Amino acid sequence: MNDASNHHTHTGRDSFGSSFGILVALAGSAVGLGNLWRFPYLVGENGGAAFILIYLAFVFLIGMPIMLSEFVVGRRSQSSARGAYQKLAPDGKWGFAGSLAIVCCILILSFYSVVGGWGIEYLFKAFRFDFTKGDQAALSSMFSTFASSSWQPLICHTLFLLASGIIVILGVKNGIERFSKVMMPVLFVIMIGIAIRSLTLPGAREGIEYLFKPDWSAVTADTFLDALGQAFFSLSLGSGMVITYGSYVSRKENIVSLSAKTAIADTLFAMIAGCAIMPAVFAFGISPGEGPGLVFITLPHIFSQLPFGGVIAILFFVALLLAALTSSISLLEVIVAFSIEEFKMKRRTAVMLTLVVLWVLGCLCSLSQGVLSDWKFFGKTVFDLFDFVSANVLMLAGGLLVVIFAGWKLGRKIIHDELSNSGALKIPVWFVDTLSFLIRFLAPVAIIVIAVFQWI
Ligand code: PFF
Repeated sequence: MNDASNHHTHTGRDSFGSSFGILVALAGSAVGLGNLWRFPYLVGENGGAAFILIYLAFVFLIGMPIMLSEFVVGRRSQSSARGAYQKLAPDGKWGFAGSLAIVCCILILSFYSVVGGWGIEYLFKAFRFDFTKGDQAALSSMFSTFASSSWQPLICHTLFLLASGIIVILGVKNGIERFSKVMMPVLFVIMIGIAIRSLTLPGAREGIEYLFKPDWSAVTADTFLDALGQAFFSLSLGSGMVITYGSYVSRKENIVSLSAKTAIADTLFAMIAGCAIMPAVFAFGISPGEGPGLVFITLPHIFSQLPFGGVIAILFFVALLLAALTSSISLLEVIVAFSIEEFKMKRRTAVMLTLVVLWVLGCLCSLSQGVLSDWKFFGKTVFDLFDFVSANVLMLAGGLLVVIFAGWKLGRKIIHDELSNSGALKIPVWFVDTLSFLIRFLAPVAIIVIAVFQWI
């Protein structure tokens, strides 16, 4: 499994094989249900273009500096999330930041694999042309009957976890990288095709305006929190993913350009998804603020009325599944890399043990849509709690810790050394200065302010 020797002089750790491989793996992690399921409904709930503009500002002013900080920590230490902190700060107090990231990935993956499982079921439904059988109300009850059932979604969730497990067992280069290299281009092509179809519908104009013409009156304090949480979620930040993937990246790679390309690919994909979904939603006179059911209720309804909608439905759910899988493998890899390193486990054992834990937690999430819907913690079901705690608490905490660590503990000199590959790349001084400022001041202050606003 370990054919990493030609890329690293390192102790037989797995690693990526090519620059393109790294980029598609990173972009694969970033592009996921966050773009196809979360982004459209958040845009809908927060009033469209104004939300998108705030989101974009956060991606580049806060997201990029965090991503680069994680890259610095991961590549310099060549360790998994917890080991990375411990190696770079041997006084031992920082390990908890890594542990937090592991917990965060476990929580995300628990509900993520449930939604991924819904994607599997909906792909089957698309193949059976099930969506043509009813109106919006029928599709809505079809979704809630399915999601609240005590066995069907569990089977799908299990399948989704197994698929992710198989890819991760194959390793970083032979599993994650190879899968992403093939699937990411396919994913982009499918979504661009669907966007073109959607943009050419009569009545699409209103949807485009909704996406690109800001209505500032819809903005509240919550909009900022949602936008920041979404920037973190979509770029996979604060969860140790970039630390872990970064630890498989060779010292010759340009991490500034890799981070920029990843952020751009993710944002581009979110916009393509927006263009695929919103114009169609408006063309059919549906309200975009439908919430989490947008993709599983509203879209099937639209597919059922479009010419060739059956084919588009199939393509859409293939895309959704591919997007979900290239992200779930990255979440799984964070946990697996940690287990291999900390407990000296074999990759295969680590994957299987992790899957067992995730399966149990995922079942709880899934059942919380049905029989366990009365189990409420802080007024939230298990599913909503995991989503909220990971995206709006742990990822923010993880991001805050990593910028403090990189900016204040490691400092400007080490950051510069990593960005420039020890001087081999010419990185302009103004760039390092600006970035240090964003890492040391703007990112931490913004995270704290927005988090505090949420509690008051
Ligand atoms: N970025 C993924 C998405 O948008 O769906 C979700 C995600 C993947 C979050 C990996 C965190 C992570 F480590």
